[in-house]
Amino acid sequence: MPIYLIGMMGSGKTTLGKILSDILDKKFIDIDTEIEKLERKKIHHIFLQKGEEYFRDVETKILKKTENEDAIISTGGGIILKKENREILKKHKTLFLYVPIEILLKRIDTENRPLLKNGKYKLYDIWNKRKELYENFKKIDLKNFDIYESTAKILYEICEKKSSEIVNDFQKIIFKVKGIEDLKDKKNIFTSEIVNKIYGNNFINPYILENGEKIKNIENVKKIYLYLIKNNINKKDAIYGVGGGTVTDLIGFIGSTFKRGIKTIFYPTTLLSQVDAALGGKNAINFEDIKNIIGTFKVPDKVIIDPLTVISQKNENYYEGIIEAFKLAIIDGNISLFLDNIKKIKKRNLNIIMDIIKFSVKTKLSIVSKDPFDNNIRKILNLGHTFGHSFESITGISHGLAVGWGIKKEIELFGPNIKDKKLILDFLEEIIPENIYNMNININKLKKFILHDKKIIFKNQITIPIINTVGNVELKKIDILNYL
Ligand SMILES: NC(=O)c1ccc[n+]([C@@H]2O[C@H](COP(=O)([O-])OP(=O)(O)OC[C@H]3O[C@@H](n4cnc5c(N)ncnc54)[C@H](O)[C@@H]3O)[C@@H](O)[C@H]2O)c1
Repeated sequence: MPIYLIGMMGSGKTTLGKILSDILDKKFIDIDTEIEKLERKKIHHIFLQKGEEYFRDVETKILKKTENEDAIISTGGGIILKKENREILKKHKTLFLYVPIEILLKRIDTENRPLLKNGKYKLYDIWNKRKELYENFKKIDLKNFDIYESTAKILYEICEKKSSEIVNDFQKIIFKVKGIEDLKDKKNIFTSEIVNKIYGNNFINPYILENGEKIKNIENVKKIYLYLIKNNINKKDAIYGVGGGTVTDLIGFIGSTFKRGIKTIFYPTTLLSQVDAALGGKNAINFEDIKNIIGTFKVPDKVIIDPLTVISQKNENYYEGIIEAFKLAIIDGNISLFLDNIKKIKKRNLNIIMDIIKFSVKTKLSIVSKDPFDNNIRKILNLGHTFGHSFESITGISHGLAVGWGIKKEIELFGPNIKDKKLILDFLEEIIPENIYNMNININKLKKFILHDKKIIFKNQITIPIINTVGNVELKKIDILNYL
């Protein structure tokens, strides 16, 4: 089935089309490129030598050929000018990518754009002539969105709703492509600014929190308790945590303490929250600069994972989720899921993201269900976290990347000769930005933080997960000073 992207020059049809084709495993066709290949000339030469009418005829010929392609197809801005073309486009899924002229003017140059040969400001005339024709098609307003946010917005128009349950006895997890759209008739939605900016069209009157770690504090807890009291929320009502791990941690804590526990439903929207934070029933807020020092255990009543939300994440945040999932693979043994698919992971291929989420849910919950209150085996999930947390506190680098650095450091210290060391390190090196991966931290600084770690049992004794080999991670009691 062809999916056509139409819109003004500079609206992102080609850039977004290529990203979408990688995400969806579909072919990508650019009609302008096909015209240039067929004519063996640049577009402005075709215009100059043969005129616009000739160009439009070739364009129609190629458009007709694409009708049987299962592809993402980017079109030239003027394709909608001909009635014949509009009729073809109307038979298929065609999306109009709208970006205001003021933004387009900043983006485009005039090279190989024959219609702008008299200057960029001609764009206003072109828009005025075409806008009504574009409006015949499904419009996606991309004015406030970056590349990945725009890609996600388009995916919600392309993908079909699909849902399945990930079966386990510990926690109810529903995997639902486009699940976030179900929030349209729900009350008591708590979300973050960015999530509201991108997905707010699905929320009625949400409670909007700032972005990031700073929301996990006692002041927000008080404000939300007051909000719930004012709105007469009681045990039969549900509250919805819609966002990354910071939102699910905060709302999980509120849900477990308000009226001694009310119905709590999570829609985790970052990969890290889908593969880790929303699973297993731990929640926490920070206090006096101590991370996760106040919290409870309460398994949320439902977790709905919509994998499409991952696509709109900033690269760094996306990779944080990949690292936490890779940690689970080192524990479980299934690192080939990651090593064999590194290119697809980098291109955010949806099938591989879905496989990684499903694998992570299964693996994390199978560990957590054996030790729900974190007294024993669940602690192996702290792999990379002892050094990772210290690194995070010292450098301020975000959690997931710090855990990646921590895994590398812990391998160097505790398992320099393990069998699959190179495979693990090569993968981390591909994923973590070079300056972070190779960052050296003063050993005394590290020592200071590690000796205050929650996992210290007595003096310098710490229980720490140590990799024997991939698929065999063991909790060991060690004297940390023997290694630092
Ligand atoms: N409870 C647990 O078991 C557990 C486990 C691991 C981590 N955590 C906690 O999770 C938190 C980290 O979670 P995180 O990495 O999701 O960070 P986060 O919640 O801060 O999200 C990162 C950023 O991405 C934005 N965002 C969220 N969804 C988005 C989307 N779909 N598209 C674009 N942007 C989006 C957020 O607004 C934020 O700015 C930490 O506080 C950590 O302690 C908890």
